[in-house]
Amino acid sequence: MIMYTTKTIQDEILRLKKENDICILAHAYQSQDIWEVADYVGDSYGLSQKAAAASQKTVLMCGVRFMAETVKILSPQKKVLLSHSQAGCPMAQQISVPQLEELKRRYPGYTVAVYINSTCALKTLCDVCVTSASAVKIIRKLDNPNILFIPDCNLGAWVTAQVPEKNIQLVNGGCPAHASITAEQVDKQRRLHPDAKLLVHPECLPEVTKTADYIGSTTGIMEYAKQSSSQAFIIGTENSIVQHLQFACPDKQFYPLSDTCICTNMKLTTLMDVYHCIQGTGGEEVTLPDDVMNRARRCIDAMLALG
Ligand code: 13P
Ligand code: SF4
Repeated sequence: MIMYTTKTIQDEILRLKKENDICILAHAYQSQDIWEVADYVGDSYGLSQKAAAASQKTVLMCGVRFMAETVKILSPQKKVLLSHSQAGCPMAQQISVPQLEELKRRYPGYTVAVYINSTCALKTLCDVCVTSASAVKIIRKLDNPNILFIPDCNLGAWVTAQVPEKNIQLVNGGCPAHASITAEQVDKQRRLHPDAKLLVHPECLPEVTKTADYIGSTTGIMEYAKQSSSQAFIIGTENSIVQHLQFACPDKQFYPLSDTCICTNMKLTTLMDVYHCIQGTGGEEVTLPDDVMNRARRCIDAMLALG
């Protein structure tokens, strides 16, 4: 019987993606074995930009559904595959189209700012999109002083603290993984690692972010840790980042802030799923009606226009 190893499967994926003209995108929260076969690794918006510029006609998104939708919106002519058909983002599902219509009736005249971690359908009703890296800058630049910010109230609270001149209306929503981190876990890790810098994602609760040495997107956290002269870091984002940073900086120490900050949806995709997608025997092609994509694209374009 042939024994397959991670390496033999990775080699086969690398061969097949070339043969089948497929670009593999891996979100930062995917595992190291998937990172190693990807053309690009990064956050959802950065990856969709890479996909749009890539020469391949097919793109495989190893991540969750809203990320594959964003790739499709920015590259409607390409075939876009999602690595695992059940990989969704609970936060992206928290507000439905009828609920947003009701919110818009309750807050007439407000500019609706939507986190990129949202469905394509929700984006069609919004004015401007934001990412965790761009949210503060974009909200500050909006003309309207009244803003309805959906769906992450923790990211929204962090933006509100930095843009006090705006009247920002938040709704109850957020990332279950990041929002599970507690202030008690911060105290415990600070006691265990007194010399470590605490790096935290803005999807965490305000009582967690307020204690951090650095608050930023996943990419921001990784860049900070790589460039810092400090030797030890407590990582307040999805726990795969602890391992990725340890690979990138073997001489530094990285500790998870919490043992619960794990995105089970991101973890659905395995290297074998990638193998099946590349072979054409797994995953799901993501398709969206043209008019829906066009309307959703307007709020992404509005973000680009602002910065
Ligand atoms: P960023 O990678 O954009 O910081 O987003 C974090 C996240 O939760 C992705 O789902
Ligand atoms: Fe959604 Fe949170 Fe998972 Fe990101 S980490 S995909 S926001 S549940």
